[in-house]
Amino acid sequence: LKGKHILVTGGAGFIGHHLVKTIIREKPAKLYIIDNLSTGLQSNIEDIIGLPEVAFINEDVAKPSTVESITDLDYIFHLAAVVSVPKSFEMPFLTHRTNESGFINMLELARKLKVKKLCYASSSAVYGEQMQMPIQETATLNPQSPYGLSKLLNEQYAKAFQEWEDIESVGFRFFNVFGPGQRADSPYSGVISIFMDRMQKGEPIQIFGDGEQIRDFVFVDDVVQALLLGAQSEITFGLYNVGSGQTTSLNELYDVLKNLTKYSNDPTYQEARKGDIKKSAADINLIKNQLNYNPKFNLKEGLAKLIGTA
Ligand code: UD1
Repeated sequence: LKGKHILVTGGAGFIGHHLVKTIIREKPAKLYIIDNLSTGLQSNIEDIIGLPEVAFINEDVAKPSTVESITDLDYIFHLAAVVSVPKSFEMPFLTHRTNESGFINMLELARKLKVKKLCYASSSAVYGEQMQMPIQETATLNPQSPYGLSKLLNEQYAKAFQEWEDIESVGFRFFNVFGPGQRADSPYSGVISIFMDRMQKGEPIQIFGDGEQIRDFVFVDDVVQALLLGAQSEITFGLYNVGSGQTTSLNELYDVLKNLTKYSNDPTYQEARKGDIKKSAADINLIKNQLNYNPKFNLKEGLAKLIGTA
């Protein structure tokens, strides 16, 4: 990425700010960051914004005018999105606008500036509930929320635009990403950041459902690794699971975090959330074989980094 022109959307967000920091170390010629700070935080990238090679565009990713000032581009990393399943049920139009119109805005930009690769965040939510675990990319897709549906549409647009307009893209079906900088102050945030925050403050915790739902928790540094591998690959159209390859139930997660934080309370169990998936386990062989992805953190190692003991 040295000497290249790069755009990161959602660059002030959880995954985005980690990616931006990694890209800056590679000495790009120009780094554009689009983020309307709806869930991202300017403080995440305060030190980056001041650099001469960085242009921060504090605008909505779904507006064509947002990208008008960008005139030269090699790579797009498109991460801006509504990322919460429950929020997507409450706000299907906002989800549609941000996630689908935002994506098409990126496709038009990629076409106009002849971008080498569009790397974007899809989600394991495209799978919905599956019988076969771990889930391979070839599984029949069955999204169960407006969020999952929006990501499936991104993938289908990416496929079509590769055929119609020669736009090369790699979509990443992120499983449950965690790590430093994931907000804990919203009920829509990731479960690890919420549990960790509440345990550290001694506040009560709710588990939705029986706690036996399983997830593949993948550390954010590994997700950044996957995104960069995708940009540098020769793949013209790709879709890959991004996980750790290991699963944990919510009850197990609760116990691990409880021990780490010396929390003493028991959780309260509540009705499962609408659209919540019971089993989500990633088969990561495809990305390992095709992109040489090699996750470096399991849950415990990631948590140790998160709480600053690694
Ligand atoms: C998450 C991501 C989504 C990603 C998907 C891929 C977030 C906010 N969502 O969705 O972007 O595409 O993984 O797999 O990062 N839970 C509780 N108590 C709480 C909060 C959550 O029991 O206080 C439960 C939920 O009901 C769910 C599990 O924890 O069963 C995980 O929830 P969450 O972290 O919101 O992630 P997903 O819905 O899996």
